[in-house]
Amino acid sequence: MPDKLLILPGDGIGPEVMTEVRKVIDWFAAEKGLAFEVEEDLVGGAAYDVHGKPLADETMEKAQAADAVLLGAVGGPKYDKLDFSVKPERGLLRLRKEMDLFANLRPAVCFDALADFSSLKKDVIGGLDIMIVRELTSGVYFGEPRGIFKEGNERVGINTQRYTEGEIARVARSAFELARARNNKVCSMEKANVMESGILWRDVVQEVHDAEYPDVELTHMYADAGGMQLVRWPKQFDVIVTDNLFGDMLSDVAAMLTGSLGMLPSASLGLPMANGRPKALYEPVHGSAPDIAGTGKANPIACILSFGMALRYSFGKLDEAALLERAIDAVLADGKRTADLMQAGDKQPVSTSEMGDAIVAKLGELA
Ligand code: NAI
Ligand code: MG
Repeated sequence: MPDKLLILPGDGIGPEVMTEVRKVIDWFAAEKGLAFEVEEDLVGGAAYDVHGKPLADETMEKAQAADAVLLGAVGGPKYDKLDFSVKPERGLLRLRKEMDLFANLRPAVCFDALADFSSLKKDVIGGLDIMIVRELTSGVYFGEPRGIFKEGNERVGINTQRYTEGEIARVARSAFELARARNNKVCSMEKANVMESGILWRDVVQEVHDAEYPDVELTHMYADAGGMQLVRWPKQFDVIVTDNLFGDMLSDVAAMLTGSLGMLPSASLGLPMANGRPKALYEPVHGSAPDIAGTGKANPIACILSFGMALRYSFGKLDEAALLERAIDAVLADGKRTADLMQAGDKQPVSTSEMGDAIVAKLGELA
């Protein structure tokens, strides 16, 4: 049976970068015999315009039945005044929630050609390849009680960090599985020195390790120290696993080690389906970039790399994923840059479609 891929381009630059991903998918189908059953549907403002809500029930069903979902971006000024319940972002949140995507994977990879694009020294980030696994569906963003309450004469704002053993164990398993396919190292980050939920986090990660993954090297670090180490010497890490709040911050820090928002892919994974593959949603980290939408300036690489993550984590096509990454590195090494990657002294930027075409041509050269 062909692999089922549901494509949701969304709004703004979403459809523009997704057009380039389609070229890459077509190339792999024609030249490498990868059989995908690709279906395209609406999400975000694009879905609201047609259905009056940011994700139709039929689209949700298709997402549940797909081997992987690839999303562009949602949102834009046109939708800013909509009621909260039908805002474009709600479409994305519904996908994450109903697919129960609890493990958010954010790689930080330094492409050789962009090693001097970083604000850090070249020897600190050259060759960097780490993965942050952030718990995405629990923790302080969801815990009860929450709210702003009156206490005597003043207001108090309350949020609750709450994790069950099961929630910690399942994201820990995702991290250990990933590490086994990489360099076999996991660093777990929490604040066990000041938070009970952190003590439980540390204990459960250690227990899952000892019982199921004793072959993986496990270390623990306080999340604030982890932030320092990420900037000081990021290459000490392979896989980092952490909670929703710390992961939100640490993954943004890690993202900027290497450069532009236009280069950053992500994956959100859930429990294994009947075929053994995890439920999965792949998307670039960036949003719909209304300031450049329609100008041909969007960098399609973040979305193309998100498809690369789908090749690796949903479809088991490791060689093809590696080929795609090499092609992107080679195109950058040729000096091709979209506007977001321009540095002093660079030549003219290439457009969104020129970048997509160059990557496809390079795939042909390298294959
Ligand atoms: P944004 O990520 O869309 O843009 C931030 C800046 O980075 C802009 O200057 C933009 O031009 C640039 N940029 C982003 N992606 C780029 C790319 N591929 N190539 C070149 N430059 C790129 O974030 P912003 O401006 O805060 O939000 C814009 C809209 O996107 C809002 O409606 C927001 O709610 C939505 N959004 C959606 C997300 C999603 O779909 N996952 C995530 C973040 C924001
Ligand atoms: Mg963030």
